[in-house]
Amino acid sequence: MSLMEQIKQKAQSNVKHIVLPEGTEERTVQAAALIEKQHIAKVTLLGKAEEIQAVAARFSVDLTGIGTIDPETSADLPRYTEMFYELRREKGVTPEKAAATMKNPLFFAAMMIRDGKADGMVAGAISTTGDTLRPGLQIIKMAKGISVVSSCFIMEVPDRSYGDNGVLIFGDCAVNPCPTAEQLAAIAISSAATGKALCGIDPRVAMLSFSTKGSAKHELVDKVARATELVREQAPELNVDGELQADAALVEKVGRLKSPGSPVAGKANVLIFPDLQAGNIGYKLVQRLAGAEAIGPICQGFKYPINDLSRGCSVDDIVSVVAITAVQAQNL
Ligand code: ACO
Repeated sequence: MSLMEQIKQKAQSNVKHIVLPEGTEERTVQAAALIEKQHIAKVTLLGKAEEIQAVAARFSVDLTGIGTIDPETSADLPRYTEMFYELRREKGVTPEKAAATMKNPLFFAAMMIRDGKADGMVAGAISTTGDTLRPGLQIIKMAKGISVVSSCFIMEVPDRSYGDNGVLIFGDCAVNPCPTAEQLAAIAISSAATGKALCGIDPRVAMLSFSTKGSAKHELVDKVARATELVREQAPELNVDGELQADAALVEKVGRLKSPGSPVAGKANVLIFPDLQAGNIGYKLVQRLAGAEAIGPICQGFKYPINDLSRGCSVDDIVSVVAITAVQAQNL
């Protein structure tokens, strides 16, 4: 059974309620019907009911059992407006701005989760990453003990000798452009936890750089070395090593040579990139050139799960990301 099939099966074992704010988007409507049919999650589509039904009719999709809510006419809108105003008034949000913001389905969905009316949300088929995550950052906020929201990808490479039978976690490839050492450490700890929760791996975390153990001197290298120290302090149970070059992290012979005695070098299954340029480019290169399957980005660190889709996503991608979100909600 593939990893994704296992995640879907786990989602089916304890059905969670996931809200899809892009409720009139055609792939989202088709995915909602599949999710409902396969009992992966209970879903609610946001948008005008007649528009959602028109899309469903166009694709001959049966929406029986799927709820719809129009934020603009919802009975919850005045209360959510008040809640948002209270949350953000110190940031300069006026009652008028709060009212307009709460009609935005992405913000309404985040408020439904805060209000206990849904367990998670998935969007991004037509919204940018920033627009999808901002309601989460402003309304859902971070889980206890978490200092930064970040993301990771589950990468399944065809060469099964890497990672755990070809499965590796790459972080952060989608959220934090220039992480500090403290943020890099938090990304590493969150990515290890996501790998454990979703893939059942025993994490071996490599903090990647263009240097291995002082082979190059540069302030960027110092940042990765400092982040490694912080991971060791904050999560002493975690197998972590750094700074490591990618070959020292992944190739047994190189790892033994460059970081002898390391519990990680040569056998890493969690790769932490030093910044978003490296992480985003890195996962796309592995996906395209090595033919890896890239599952994600999976957001981590929110109090309740929110996940972002690629705007080029397929119906199946949406089903998969909803299953991941449901399993994250189970793991809270
Ligand atoms: N973790 C925790 N809190 C955060 C984070 C974070 N990573 N980022 C911002 N915040 C906080 C802010 O401090 C702010 O707090 P406050 O207003 O309550 O004081 C709040 O969240 C809202 O922040 P905004 O200023 O509205 O958001 P910002 O403009 O900082 O944007 C975002 C955050 C959207 C994540 C931004 O960093 C971003 O655009 N990242 C890159 C996304 C991207 O383009 N990725 C590549 C494409 S994805 C792909 O290819 C798979």
